[in-house]
Amino acid sequence: MFLVLGKKGSGKTYYTIHTLIEQYHTAHPEKKILVYNTDDHTDYRYIPRIKPGDLERWTGAGIYRIVDSDATGVISLINEYVYNGLVIFEDASKYINKRLQKSAWDAILNSKQHNIDILFQFHGFAACPPEILRQCDVITMFRCDSPAYRRDELVEYEAVQAAYNKVMASKEDYPHKTVIVA
Ligand SMILES: Nc1ncnc2c1ncn2[C@@H]1O[C@H](COP(=O)(O)OP(=O)(O)OP(=O)(O)O)[C@@H](O)[C@H]1O
Ligand SMILES: [Mg+2]
Repeated sequence: MFLVLGKKGSGKTYYTIHTLIEQYHTAHPEKKILVYNTDDHTDYRYIPRIKPGDLERWTGAGIYRIVDSDATGVISLINEYVYNGLVIFEDASKYINKRLQKSAWDAILNSKQHNIDILFQFHGFAACPPEILRQCDVITMFRCDSPAYRRDELVEYEAVQAAYNKVMASKEDYPHKTVIVA
């Protein structure tokens, strides 16, 4: 489970498209990649759209995106029909609550059995549900709020805090650091 954290405009979407999706596709050409978002983000328009109702007919590899406002309904369908690949929850702060809804929790619980890697983007540590902070394997941080208040939920808290300090001190344009916490 990948977690990408950063405030608005910090570079999460750019990194997801130009680094994560590209690397995942190169490493696993036989797998699916699905991007879910509640709105029709221009940066993802190069990816063909699939309707949630058509997920059950998607066999084999490929890359699709879903644009739909009914997050709970879409996540339930993903849980039921999407196997073998990467599911990206773009801008999850908009539709995954700090009190994790059941469908999102089911997605996490099912992921191993369904051979699914999950990526959640949130605006920062405070916006991320505690279950996701505890369960994630890789955290990529852009400029965002401090992890200090989530100390008890972060498995590798010291490493996360050290990486966060480097990001915040960086003079680069879109600084980020990745910590493997699994
Ligand atoms: N590494 C980069 N190199 C060049 N431009 C970048 C880079 N990262 C981000 N940008 C540009 O900065 C702007 C904001 O980036 P991006 O959309 O990735 O932010 P975000 O964290 O996803 O924001 P939001 O939370 O609003 O979705 C975009 O126009 C994007 O093209
Ligand atoms: Mg974005």
